[in-house]
Amino acid sequence: MDTELEGRVVLVTGASTGIGAATARAYGREGARVAVTYRHSPEKAGRVVAEIAAGGGQACAVRLDLEDLDGVERAVRAVVERWGGVDVLVANAVRWGGDGPPDPSVRFEHVPLAEWQAMIGANLIGAVAQVRAVLPGMRARGWGRIVLVSSSVAEEGVPGPGPYGTAKSGLHGLARSLAWEAGRDGVLVNVVAPGFTLTDSRPPLPAALTDRLAAGTPTRRLSDAEDVARLVVFLGSGANGNLTGELVRDGSAAARAPHTGP
Ligand SMILES: NC(=O)c1ccc[n+]([C@@H]2O[C@H](COP(=O)([O-])OP(=O)(O)OC[C@H]3O[C@@H](n4cnc5c(N)ncnc54)[C@H](OP(=O)(O)O)[C@@H]3O)[C@@H](O)[C@H]2O)c1
Repeated sequence: MDTELEGRVVLVTGASTGIGAATARAYGREGARVAVTYRHSPEKAGRVVAEIAAGGGQACAVRLDLEDLDGVERAVRAVVERWGGVDVLVANAVRWGGDGPPDPSVRFEHVPLAEWQAMIGANLIGAVAQVRAVLPGMRARGWGRIVLVSSSVAEEGVPGPGPYGTAKSGLHGLARSLAWEAGRDGVLVNVVAPGFTLTDSRPPLPAALTDRLAAGTPTRRLSDAEDVARLVVFLGSGANGNLTGELVRDGSAAARAPHTGP
């Protein structure tokens, strides 16, 4: 299948580690020019860029902070100045809050309103800011693909991390409306909702827990970052001819992990 990605410019936010890094590498293998964003980890983003270059691809690293909305626009502008536009946006960056994935032991009423605002500001409005920055160029060229990375938590919930799932569920409404608004200009918008995903940024889990989680999925296995990356690349490519406004659940989305985060 031709992904029609050769020479396309792809912006993958939050691509220094995890699903974003795997996605950036996968786009690199398709011949796209890949902008890899990071927040705290320029050296990790640099490694992803080097891996893409070692495979014969083109990539660059750009700092993007979801908590600095003007900075989001500046980051996109830097990519446009370098390569002339952004054809594909993968809005994958996430503000976990605290030191990592949400802590399910935290009680709802103990999450300060300021944390709600910060989570929704970064993870929902931050995605809106990314879309706003890339959409005019996509419209002008009559072609674009946008993939918003959500989570199974948005639909299924999980004890504790209310702001995370609430912000992610906003992406689903965003995609539905945006699909109508941008479709006439050749821009397709979809959401990927991974479940519990094995990544290089997650500490190894005890085998018994992995087995228990996998047993709750249709395929009896958990997804890894490459599984999600392949799904994202399909949706965010020319291989996706006319699918828009959809929410695609990864097989791991059925895994229930109430004590280990999203
Ligand atoms: N892993 C899972 O099980 C899972 C399940 C469901 C959904 N998801 C979703 O999949 C996406 C990727 O998850 P992941 O587990 O692969 O994440 P991850 O490995 O923790 O990577 C997060 C990425 O986001 C960047 N980042 C962190 N804070 C940021 C901020 N405030 N502004 C901009 N960028 C920021 C990080 O950059 P630095 O490291 O450079 O700071 C990193 O590149 C997220 O949207 C997440 O919600 C993941």
